[in-house]
Amino acid sequence: MNILDIITRKKNGISLSYDELEYAFNGYLNKKIPSYQMSALLMAITINGMNMSETLALTDIFIKSGEEYHISDYINNSVDKHSTGGVGDTTTLVVGPMCAAMGMHMAKMSGRGLGITGGTIDKLESIPGMNLKLTKDELIEKASTVGFALSAQTSELTPLDKVVYALRDVTGTTESLPLIASSIMSKKIALGAENILIDIKVGDGALVKNQSQAEELSRMLKEIGTSYNKKVETIISDMNTPLSYAIGNALEVKEAINVLKGKKCPLYYKAVECAANLLSMTRGLDYNESIIYAEKAIETGKALEKFYEFVKSQGGRIDELELAENVIPINANKSGKIKKIDALGAAKLAAKVGASKMKLDDTIDYSVGLYLNVKEGDYVKEGDLLLKVYVNNPNIELTNSDFSFIDIEGE
Ligand code: URA
Ligand code: CA
Repeated sequence: MNILDIITRKKNGISLSYDELEYAFNGYLNKKIPSYQMSALLMAITINGMNMSETLALTDIFIKSGEEYHISDYINNSVDKHSTGGVGDTTTLVVGPMCAAMGMHMAKMSGRGLGITGGTIDKLESIPGMNLKLTKDELIEKASTVGFALSAQTSELTPLDKVVYALRDVTGTTESLPLIASSIMSKKIALGAENILIDIKVGDGALVKNQSQAEELSRMLKEIGTSYNKKVETIISDMNTPLSYAIGNALEVKEAINVLKGKKCPLYYKAVECAANLLSMTRGLDYNESIIYAEKAIETGKALEKFYEFVKSQGGRIDELELAENVIPINANKSGKIKKIDALGAAKLAAKVGASKMKLDDTIDYSVGLYLNVKEGDYVKEGDLLLKVYVNNPNIELTNSDFSFIDIEGE
């Protein structure tokens, strides 16, 4: 086999065999294929696509590049969820405890933030003492006893996805649907929960730009799941505006607690939707009935209790969670309707104050970020509080353009 032939075939729109994909991708992992040739192949795939049998083959090659945990062999009612990445997406921190409260078991591996979207691991690292490097045995033990356990991705599982994802990130090949589908599903299947929910984010700031792409991705994810005997459901959610009022690591942890205490806001409804979908899949319940149980998990305080139990079991000291001391209030400069709160702009401001990495070697300040006081559709009067900015550097220069992500339609 010859890598140039493989690249040329894909460039000409010919579908590749399992063996050809394996030769190219495993060759890259084993450093026999250089990154410029892998980049060319990824670009050809991004432009010409892959059919379902190629997508299934690539998923399998990703899975077989590392260990498989087979979680569902050890844990009953095992569930997993994944979001394709969003701004202020604190859903996992609410859904995990809700699932635990309803008798499901979530053993989850999460990533760090990519670009300006924050990762669940970064958020939890804001809790002093939190151990997010669990071994397979610890992950399984905690998921079975507590009901929710979370660990950072290790390179034991799908190491091939890790190197390919990093290359896609810098070669303009992140938005290929078959590459997204095989990347996500290989990680889910290598871990091995029985019931898997994928939250597909759609919007300007998201990988998936429109509804029809989201529906196509959804079909691919489900078909891959079926071929591995996994139940896969998807939900499609708008990512043009931040999901949570909080953007920033410790702030998002606090907001997850507020929602678990019953605060009704977009994050609450998204978490209920996710947890109800997982319950409905796991128990074969009607979706509307599942919604009632999911809301009850919060109402009764059980999900909140599970959150604290989860933090404690991984060594976290929630009482020591710290927010930055300097809080800058930002008020409306005119009266009117909040026409738009742009997710990307909000994330950029959070990044500017230090909540996420702009460059690879930046460090994250867990205690900083934004807390929105308004949502799209609200009416404000001039001088009303729009948001609070939490900073550690009181001399940080913030200008009007930093806040242009909030568009007020004046009268
Ligand atoms: N999330 C992933 O894990 N992989 C992708 O390719 C996109 C989103
Ligand atoms: Ca998430």
